[in-house]
Amino acid sequence: MDMKELRQLGREKFGKACRMCPICDGRACAGEIPGAGGVGTGQAFRNNVSALVNVQLRQRIIHDVHMPSTRFTLWEKSLTMPILAAPIGGIAFNWNNYIPEDEYAKAVINGCKMAGTLGMVGDGKLPEIYQGGLNHILEVGGWGIPTIKPPPNEQIIALAKQAEKVGAVAIAIDVDAAALINMTASGQKVGPKTYEELVELKANIKLPIIIKGIMDVQDAVMCSQAGIDAIVVSNHGGRVLDHTPGTAEVLPDIVAAVGDEMTIFVDGGIRTGFDVLKMLALGADAVLVGRPVTQAGAGGAEGISCLMEHLRSELEAAMIMTGCQDLASIGGQVLYKK
Ligand SMILES: Cc1cc2nc3c(=O)[nH]c(=O)nc-3n(C[C@H](O)[C@H](O)[C@H](O)COP(=O)(O)O)c2cc1C
Repeated sequence: MDMKELRQLGREKFGKACRMCPICDGRACAGEIPGAGGVGTGQAFRNNVSALVNVQLRQRIIHDVHMPSTRFTLWEKSLTMPILAAPIGGIAFNWNNYIPEDEYAKAVINGCKMAGTLGMVGDGKLPEIYQGGLNHILEVGGWGIPTIKPPPNEQIIALAKQAEKVGAVAIAIDVDAAALINMTASGQKVGPKTYEELVELKANIKLPIIIKGIMDVQDAVMCSQAGIDAIVVSNHGGRVLDHTPGTAEVLPDIVAAVGDEMTIFVDGGIRTGFDVLKMLALGADAVLVGRPVTQAGAGGAEGISCLMEHLRSELEAAMIMTGCQDLASIGGQVLYKK
């Protein structure tokens, strides 16, 4: 299976839910939620893509980097790359029901494992979505990260205990689903979290906690002070608040404030290994990829593995072209500034 075949499969399976545009930038699907688009005018989704386009790379080729290492260690797990699959819930109502929800979770967990990295699985209006993800994480000995929407803390803690039982690597909470249309429309009680509630979560959950949906320095500082292990700088792929800046734009200030204290993931508009290099150069420890993984799911676990390996090999090539031997050597020096 290769990227060309995967794109063809996607065109056959997705209908209007995803038009498989040459560049997945949120233009054709603006406002399509349920669907693959960004909320409102779709500007926040487009800003993710354009913020990355505005970052330019400094090509350097007089050096001796021939075989760079893309290996990344996350909570004592050694991964082949700093690229994880972002959680995507609700294939049925968002993505033309092209694959049963449970099969998608299985493909993400197994496809990422085949490529030597980790998949995150989502949550949604039906409890089966979270449960299905946990089952597949259990089947592969805990190699995955479940994501929980932000209901009241006692529910999060109960769901996190289930994740502890299956031996998951960590749990994520997408606090930015606080007003997500899909959740509120189905009567689910979700909402934002206070600093005290974050402290309570940390005190009651043994697994590392990832707070997903941080776009502001002050929010990042509060997560860090509450003892949270990691954040995802994310605007939920532009699906929760129209007119936010792109994540690449807010990332450097967040890294400057808390980068030494916690693991920083970022997502939004990352489409190539070159984009991955840009996010790492802007200070992220690792990235999540959303829509491209859902598109690759047209080829099941094999398709997702193929995409992840493709992104990894592009990152490797980009590291040669900028003279970076390993992830630690990627920094601001690879960014072109006049
Ligand atoms: C259809 C769809 C469903 C999503 N479901 C979830 C979810 O259940 N939980 C979550 O934390 N994020 C969810 N996200 C957001 C992604 O995890 C991720 O933040 C975003 O897609 C990254 O942007 P990208 O798609 O441009 O790579 C969803 C995104 C899409 C497009």
